Amino acid sequence: MTQDIRDVVHAFEPGPGTARPLLLLHGTGGSEHDLLPLGRMVAPDAALLAPRGGVTENGMPRFFRRLAEGVFDEADLRRRTGDLAAFIGAAQDRYGLGAPLALGFSNGANIAASLLMLQPEVLAGAVLIRPMVPFAEPPAADIAGKPVLILSGAMDPIVPVENARRLAAQLTASGASVEHRILPAGHGLSQADVSLAAGWLRSLALPNAA
Ligand code: MLT
Repeated sequence: MTQDIRDVVHAFEPGPGTARPLLLLHGTGGSEHDLLPLGRMVAPDAALLAPRGGVTENGMPRFFRRLAEGVFDEADLRRRTGDLAAFIGAAQDRYGLGAPLALGFSNGANIAASLLMLQPEVLAGAVLIRPMVPFAEPPAADIAGKPVLILSGAMDPIVPVENARRLAAQLTASGASVEHRILPAGHGLSQADVSLAAGWLRSLALPNAA
């Protein structure tokens, strides 16, 4: 499917170096600008691509609809995941990018997990901050060898640690190379998230390969 990237509100910052681009996916109520400073901190050399979620809930942008907190509209999630994959493809052509590494927070981490399960070829890997299991039944996926870092909060009131462990197990069972760290944190981003994500991305050292 071709897509005009002007149809998707997004921010793009070219990378000063040759690192693999980061796809930044914000949380509920965020915008395309939210994660740019975080992206620059954890991947100083990378191009940054940040779409705004196309759904609004009481005026707050999100990447897909939900029926209640933690209860997802899975048909909408599948559809929006396809839309996001099409946007990524169009943005790669437009900006000359290789398959990006996703960096998603909360709702953005959840659609990144869905993308890994439904269209893993679109991503080089992912950092998922405070994600949860996106589908009640995990789709059969081949995520062979893709690196995934999951950062969970031990005191997260939205995502029980057991749920994040289940996601790690599902992604591992599909072949992903998963590192799951549980931090002494709640749902919000902490300094430890920033240092762990930066260190993990540095250790991958994936170059941009358009
Ligand atoms: C979601 O709806 O994706 C999760 O509940 C996280 C959130 O956005 O609050």
